[in-house]
Amino acid sequence: MSTMLQVEAEIDGLAEILVGEGVTSYLEIGSKFGGSLLRVAERLPVGSRIVSVDLPKGTKAWVQSEAELKAVIAKLRLHGYDAHLIWGDSTAKAVVEQVRALGPFDAAFIDANHTLPYVEKDFANYALMTRIIAFHDIAWRRAPEWVGTRIDVPEFWARVKDTARQHAELKLCPTAKNNGIGVLWLD
Ligand SMILES: C[S@@+](CC[C@H](N)C(=O)[O-])C[C@H]1O[C@@H](n2cnc3c(N)ncnc32)[C@H](O)[C@@H]1O
Repeated sequence: MSTMLQVEAEIDGLAEILVGEGVTSYLEIGSKFGGSLLRVAERLPVGSRIVSVDLPKGTKAWVQSEAELKAVIAKLRLHGYDAHLIWGDSTAKAVVEQVRALGPFDAAFIDANHTLPYVEKDFANYALMTRIIAFHDIAWRRAPEWVGTRIDVPEFWARVKDTARQHAELKLCPTAKNNGIGVLWLD
């Protein structure tokens, strides 16, 4: 199994929702080792289109994550999925166009750069290509004086969640201050 940076019950909950919605095309922005990609994709029907975008050298464990992500794509192809890997900054026009050429999608999962400008751009670009969009780290919470790399997804999520016809929140992290997946139905 590939290294996964998720609470298992949350990503399984997302997969459950996507299966219930009849999803056969899934876009993931930010896959790192490919753990969540594989976990979701394997729940979808064989033949489903699976597209992953990740940033070259964008992770602290790049040597390992590049190899693992490529192996996940190869495994999915071997098992009959129409899997694609796009390397680049998800907010770059050329990357958005490569993704668009493989779309539209039934569902997208955004788990790349967690700062507000990037999450907003990923939403603006990829919401137009999918009927369901999900975000990781909606439950991240720290005191204002906490020092470290902050995650802006909760602020973003609070702003958008009521703009869709339906939304769901998966908040099952035992720490109650990390992870969390928010799902928006855009159709
Ligand atoms: C938290 S990890 C993804 C974890 C994965 N979804 C999982 O749960 O197994 C975030 C990934 O986003 C990628 N990333 C960060 N900024 C990005 C950007 N601007 N465009 C594309 N990928 C980006 C990083 O390289 C990293 O691999």
